[in-house]
Amino acid sequence: MMRKEYMVKDISLASEGKKRMEWAENSMPVLRTIRKEFKKKKPLKGVRVGACLHVTTETANLILTLKAAGASIRLAASNPLSTQDEVASALVKYHNLEVFAKKGENNKEYYYALDKVMEFSPQLLIDDGADLISLAHCRNFKVFGATEETTTGVIRLRALDKQGKLKFPVVAVNDAYTKYLFDNRYGTGQSTIDGILRATNMLLAAKVFVVAGYGWCGRGLALRARGMGAKVIVTEVNPVRALEAYMDGFQVMDMKSAVKYGDVFVTVTGNKSIIRKEHFLKMKDGAILANAGHFNVEIDIPGLKSLSVTTRRVRPWVDEYKLKNGKKIYLLGEGRLINLVSAEGHPSQVMDMSFSNQALCLVHIYKNRNKLEKKVYSVPPEIDSRVARLKLKTLNIKIDTLTPEQKKYLSSWEEGT
Ligand code: ADE
Repeated sequence: MMRKEYMVKDISLASEGKKRMEWAENSMPVLRTIRKEFKKKKPLKGVRVGACLHVTTETANLILTLKAAGASIRLAASNPLSTQDEVASALVKYHNLEVFAKKGENNKEYYYALDKVMEFSPQLLIDDGADLISLAHCRNFKVFGATEETTTGVIRLRALDKQGKLKFPVVAVNDAYTKYLFDNRYGTGQSTIDGILRATNMLLAAKVFVVAGYGWCGRGLALRARGMGAKVIVTEVNPVRALEAYMDGFQVMDMKSAVKYGDVFVTVTGNKSIIRKEHFLKMKDGAILANAGHFNVEIDIPGLKSLSVTTRRVRPWVDEYKLKNGKKIYLLGEGRLINLVSAEGHPSQVMDMSFSNQALCLVHIYKNRNKLEKKVYSVPPEIDSRVARLKLKTLNIKIDTLTPEQKKYLSSWEEGT
């Protein structure tokens, strides 16, 4: 029988992808528990789900969980360089899923894939970066609701909500405690270092490592860079966060000053032009630049090109820019999320919680589709704490519970002693 061909790079990679998906699944016990429950109850029976996510082994396990819930799914990549081609192929070949994703897709292919998801007339959306939700808005396309995975996407959607232009309810999965405290902090922290090391094979000990942005991702990255023996400088625009970075023991300064010292620079701000022309010109010869924010706008790449006399690829995902002033600057991963371009993204152990929130929130939206308003919602606290409890259980960790006396003490105001 002819199998339908979707936009994947090479179907012969599928058996490799299958094994990798199983490896990830071993470290996703919470999602496995939820999948088991979904398989019995089928809470998304017959529902069409459109997904725009990094196509990784962890995402594959989320997609299989939604399939077990009875949903039919179409999946596109949320970044042109993050797709694990063997995973995309395995989802098509072994699970008969509709996947439109290949590593290295161009801008046209990226939007073609999103179009294909919309052509499927999804009733629920899962997004990472808000490109799919944004497309649905441009086309006036109504769905029951959507979930958003990442900080950048949530920022975009809150802006839309503030202007009163949101056309359906969205749950900000990023803002669950069981998401950002682990995925953003420890996931980004570790996987960004992993991406830089796989791309460069450099020694981090004693290097000056500049982290731009001290949100949850930046906090994790600074922590892990210090753990590898680097001397870490943090740049920030928010005075409270800057102070926190200082008290956490990092050097804090503006980018203009940091460029004189840095050996490695990583942007994790969610904003644009964090490192720009005036900075490139003052950098040390051989400086290495990478980005771990969602979009490739944090480093001004057109600006870097305009200052350069030559560019060449010197290793996979390492581009050398020779400036007119004779210095060389190395840009990793074309300025895209380095943890997903040259490494494999956040480890399964943290994605287990992020994607369990995703699965439970989609069911929550579907169940409450007639009640929810057109606004950005937080993850219901009962979902967040359920995910935490399940994770603790799988880790074999017992915690205390409040005694009736303690509960009473907490809910009364008279008794001080
Ligand atoms: N975002 C960061 N890491 C990821 C992963 N491993 N899978 C899906 N999305 C991610």
